Amino acid sequence: MKERSVMNIKIAASILSADRDNLQKDVNEIENYSDWLHIDIMDGKFVPPVTFIPNQIKSLETKLIKDVHLMVNYPLKENFIRDYIDAGADIITIHEECMDNINKCMDYIKNNGVKLGISINPPTLLKNLMPYLNRADMILIMSVNPGYGGQKFMPEVLQKIKEIRKLNSVIDIQIDGGINKDTIKYAVNAGANVLVAGSAIFGKEDRKKAIEELRYACKN
Ligand code: DX5
Ligand code: ZN
Repeated sequence: MKERSVMNIKIAASILSADRDNLQKDVNEIENYSDWLHIDIMDGKFVPPVTFIPNQIKSLETKLIKDVHLMVNYPLKENFIRDYIDAGADIITIHEECMDNINKCMDYIKNNGVKLGISINPPTLLKNLMPYLNRADMILIMSVNPGYGGQKFMPEVLQKIKEIRKLNSVIDIQIDGGINKDTIKYAVNAGANVLVAGSAIFGKEDRKKAIEELRYACKN
């Protein structure tokens, strides 16, 4: 089981911790080392901050998977899904806690040929995800309360990952928040295979080395 997870490991570098004034430069530095580019979109309501606008993401030159994480109240009604599909998203993750109809959001994402992720925050019970598990390409388990980079990992969410992995051995399980070279192994051992890291990559001078250290720590 552990071998399988290790082989499918994907590192998703979160540009929330990158230099917003030199975004392209920071993306270039991880381009050959990360697997995915994790793009946190916040509306100032679901969580207090506001992050990127669609044009900033559309204009980014990258060969990495554009992994868009929508921390917004109305992903459909306020056109976040539409705008980030237009900006080149390969996968869009919505939150179960959002205020739009989840089934309609899922239909819109899937009908546009984009991969679908569903996320829950740390206080949300796993059972809330269950109705969507079969249609999702990825489940995102938040390991901090969303909104900010650099927070402390919450190990109590690992149980949710273990339970999903028991139910589905192939679905991508992403974990987001507080992942670094000490915590990443707990996530992988629980069954997560897509590891988001913001400050553990962009907070370091040498981004290549930071990603290599994360990959190495997965195996130990
Ligand atoms: C938090 C965001 C994360 C954030 C993680 O709400 O969804 O993607 O970038 O940052 P670190 O890795 O620093 O915890
Ligand atoms: Zn995120």
